[in-house]
Amino acid sequence: MTTITSEETPAGWAGEGTVPGVRRPDAPGTGIHEYIDANRAELRALLTERGALLLRGFEVGGVDGFDGTVRAFSGTPPLAYAERSSPRSTIKGQVYTSTDYPPDEEIFLHNENSYQAVWPRTLYFFCAEPPLTQGATPLADIRRVLRAVDPGVRAEFEARGWQVVRNFHAGFGVPWQEAFNTSDKDGVVAYCRERGIDAEWRPDGGLRTTAVRKAVHRHPVTGEEVWFNHATFFHVGTLAPEVGAGLRAIFADEDLPTNTFYGDGGAIPDEVADHLRAAYRSASVRFDWQRDDVLVVDNMLAAHAREPFTGPRRIAVAMAEPSDA
Ligand SMILES: [Fe+2]
Repeated sequence: MTTITSEETPAGWAGEGTVPGVRRPDAPGTGIHEYIDANRAELRALLTERGALLLRGFEVGGVDGFDGTVRAFSGTPPLAYAERSSPRSTIKGQVYTSTDYPPDEEIFLHNENSYQAVWPRTLYFFCAEPPLTQGATPLADIRRVLRAVDPGVRAEFEARGWQVVRNFHAGFGVPWQEAFNTSDKDGVVAYCRERGIDAEWRPDGGLRTTAVRKAVHRHPVTGEEVWFNHATFFHVGTLAPEVGAGLRAIFADEDLPTNTFYGDGGAIPDEVADHLRAAYRSASVRFDWQRDDVLVVDNMLAAHAREPFTGPRRIAVAMAEPSDA
């Protein structure tokens, strides 16, 4: 883990770690929308080069202004958050809280919705209130993660793909009605079919969904290969050890609320998942949030995480630019 302490990106990092490109206003009181409008082409190029962009010291105008920031940068309004895997609250419109997850737990590095058929190409984070300690949003350049993955492990995933299996048990974890934002079973089945997800109703009233996806993708702009998948994030071995052991005491591996396998259903050995977590961590960098920071992330170049934290920490999140647009 590299900690960025300098306001500017350290020399020599371009194209290496996901060091966010950093931009600050020349004059105090500069509005972020005006700045983006005047520098959009350069900012987009910087985002594609570095994988992430930190806009610090601008007048954002709170959550309303943040919504406008997304529109200014992406040219479209933020996307709705569908097929949810983690609890979030709506702040306003399509601006959400970052995951409402216990503050003392880490959220591991991942690329938003990389288990879906369509994902947001661009993510936005806005620091409405910084945490007291830690609480960073670490980033990892997934070009570097791919290079850190053992060639044999990569070949296995490229040949077999990977699979996410989710079980929405009655009375345990996120109910399917919340995950799919409906209580219409036929609607869920149709939704899944359109997105290449197999849906199976269970005798206990629960639902099992299975989706097979690719592990390595090509970035649509740069053509670079990237390690873009949720095989590590959703693997039971990535949970806190006591949580994973507790769940494995209750459920068989295929019945866990969420778990990953090779695309043909074969188990991903724990040591492979360990290796993949190490590959992500080897590529990760962090910075401390400051109030009114806006972080723009190219979701197909950088994975993001959340450190545990103390204090209030209010980080708003928005997503834009669907991959099939
Ligand atoms: Fe996320």
